[in-house]
Amino acid sequence: MTAPSDPVLEAESDAASVDRAMLDEVLDGLTAPRKTIASKFFYDARGSQLFDAITELEEYYLTRAETAVLQQQAAELAARIGPGATLVEFGSGSSVKTRILLDALSGLSAYVPIDISGDHLDAAAKRLAADYGLPVIPLHADYHAPLVLPPQVPRDTLVGFFPGSTIGNFEPEEAVAFLTRLRSFLGDGARLLIGADLQKDPARLEVAYDDAKGVTAAFNLNLLERFNRELGGDFDLEAFRHEAHYDVDLGRIEMHLVSLRDQTVTLGGRRIAFAAGETIHTENSYKYTLESFAALARRSGWRGEASWTDPENLFSVHLLIAD
Ligand code: TRP
Repeated sequence: MTAPSDPVLEAESDAASVDRAMLDEVLDGLTAPRKTIASKFFYDARGSQLFDAITELEEYYLTRAETAVLQQQAAELAARIGPGATLVEFGSGSSVKTRILLDALSGLSAYVPIDISGDHLDAAAKRLAADYGLPVIPLHADYHAPLVLPPQVPRDTLVGFFPGSTIGNFEPEEAVAFLTRLRSFLGDGARLLIGADLQKDPARLEVAYDDAKGVTAAFNLNLLERFNRELGGDFDLEAFRHEAHYDVDLGRIEMHLVSLRDQTVTLGGRRIAFAAGETIHTENSYKYTLESFAALARRSGWRGEASWTDPENLFSVHLLIAD
């Protein structure tokens, strides 16, 4: 007699392909009194693609403004940094802005892109190594966790690069902790080139995070699609909508996924209830002033060497030094 396929065994073999740590972290967030999802889960292959598309949107001024600042200040940056530096980028993605620096900085020793998305990272690293004839040493890692530089990285003059106002995706206290950690990771004498989006008209900010083509909405909703696929969830993507709101007092854009009705979702064997209008908080994007950002950097043990903005004063880039 042939044994009928065993549902328990099948469930187990399914569960074996699930990333347990990811599932636990997602469930923790979704069963908290105020539901949240950690923003690192945005960046699967599709999420990384959608993110690249966001940076090209008309409404998303951040990338263009930051790129303009870097282009305008490239010569001054090169003069301040001098030859032979190693550039270490945190969250390099497809390394588009990096090319401005690689073009401008003379005689770089190496480029170390660090990113959580491995495929993205290796492809970008190969292209850059070929285009610049430079040692490119990619580090596939989550820079929120402690990092170790591979031993072959030249460490004489380290320059950290943290563009994209990603620092704004940390709570201010976490930003201080992170910048303090970067300070000790990069060491005495190192520099950090970091982009921070500036406070401005809420309407301008809100459309930057809720574009007419719905790319940011797709990026946000992709989290649920990813959980369905990778964690065996049953989120109905039609039953949630993207929302972006600027909180003037906190100086931050909040992104949420809003449940359109009362519903129950199953994930990893757990049932998660949503009331109509209840939200999952998926991201914050803090906006600074030149002064508030300088204060944040000082609290983290960095000295401001220079800071620049684009002609419209939308975005700021700061060169910090660890001395
Ligand atoms: N750090 C950028 C910002 O806050 C990019 C970013 C991170 C982003 N998460 C996002 C953009 C979510 C749109 C949606 O703008």
